[in-house]
Amino acid sequence: MAENLVEVNNLKKHFTIGDGLVLKAVDGVSFTIQKGETLGLVGESGCGKSTLGRTLIRIYDRNDGEVLFKGKNVHTLSRKEGRQFNRDVQMIFQDPQASLNPRMIVGEIIAEGLDIHSLYQQNRAERVAELLELVGLRPEHAKRFPHEFSGGQRQRIGIARALAVDPEFIIADEPISALDVSIQAQIVNLLEDLQKEKGLTYLFIAHDLSMVKHISNRIGVMYLGKIVELAESIELYDKPLHPYTQALLSAIPIPDPMVKKERIVLRGELPSPANLPSGCRFQTRCPHATEQCRAVEPEWKEAQPGHWVACHLY
Ligand SMILES: Nc1ncnc2c1ncn2[C@@H]1O[C@H](COP(=O)(O)OP(=O)(O)OP(=O)(O)O)[C@@H](O)[C@H]1O
Ligand SMILES: [Mg+2]
Repeated sequence: MAENLVEVNNLKKHFTIGDGLVLKAVDGVSFTIQKGETLGLVGESGCGKSTLGRTLIRIYDRNDGEVLFKGKNVHTLSRKEGRQFNRDVQMIFQDPQASLNPRMIVGEIIAEGLDIHSLYQQNRAERVAELLELVGLRPEHAKRFPHEFSGGQRQRIGIARALAVDPEFIIADEPISALDVSIQAQIVNLLEDLQKEKGLTYLFIAHDLSMVKHISNRIGVMYLGKIVELAESIELYDKPLHPYTQALLSAIPIPDPMVKKERIVLRGELPSPANLPSGCRFQTRCPHATEQCRAVEPEWKEAQPGHWVACHLY
């Protein structure tokens, strides 16, 4: 049995948004991430991917459930354990533009974590140069400001910053979504190379299944605050169980014109996470919805070995 680096049990993160309304951004998710693995996480805009990532890394406290990192509850760590956690777990943010301080030069941005954790202080400049080269930039870039770089280069700076403190686990929140298609593959390759070299574990967030297929060992599909299906990448692509996953996959174009594919078009609007449908949260758009689906929330169950789904069809 491989070792679980991360274990998430029934995690909930709700926001109170005025007028007593509660927005259930993350609403009871459970999964594990093994050491050295890449878990892909996909779902439409607003389904709670970033909130989940931010709760895992303790930017947010959780409302319920727990996140275990190396077996310890991350939201109840001691000060000392918390400092180590802040080194071990890093995040690459969704928007490289907004996540880099425009008034700091790149060298200082990358070295910030080194100073906080008193690392590499004797050879700080060399460490920054080494990190820049590691992500395909040049040491002289350390003296420039973030606005002097392209989007792809800025994302490389974000990766260098995350790697500076020798983390074990990296949450990459849509690291390629803002980039041109030609640059996306470069960044994915870079992340894969770094993973091999450093034995990193990734949670790789994207809104599109085609982006995570190659980099992920397993993929979780999120809908309105819940993970509705999780399986090995190939299994999820070849035998998707949840009607939502089937619809997402049907929307990916196939390059071969000889292969015919039915596109499943989802009915209706995406409901608000502040006003969730009764029963299964996908029932308002599901082509197979029954009375049971409208009344009862489906359980999260292992339908086949390693293949998890929350749907009354299984
Ligand atoms: N700080 C906050 N306060 C209140 N509501 C929030 C907050 N952050 C996120 N939300 C809401 O929580 C839900 C999930 O947002 P989140 O940013 O996690 O989605 P996402 O899946 O990352 O979307 P995207 O693909 O667009 O990045 C959304 O309805 C969002 O409006
Ligand atoms: Mg997001």
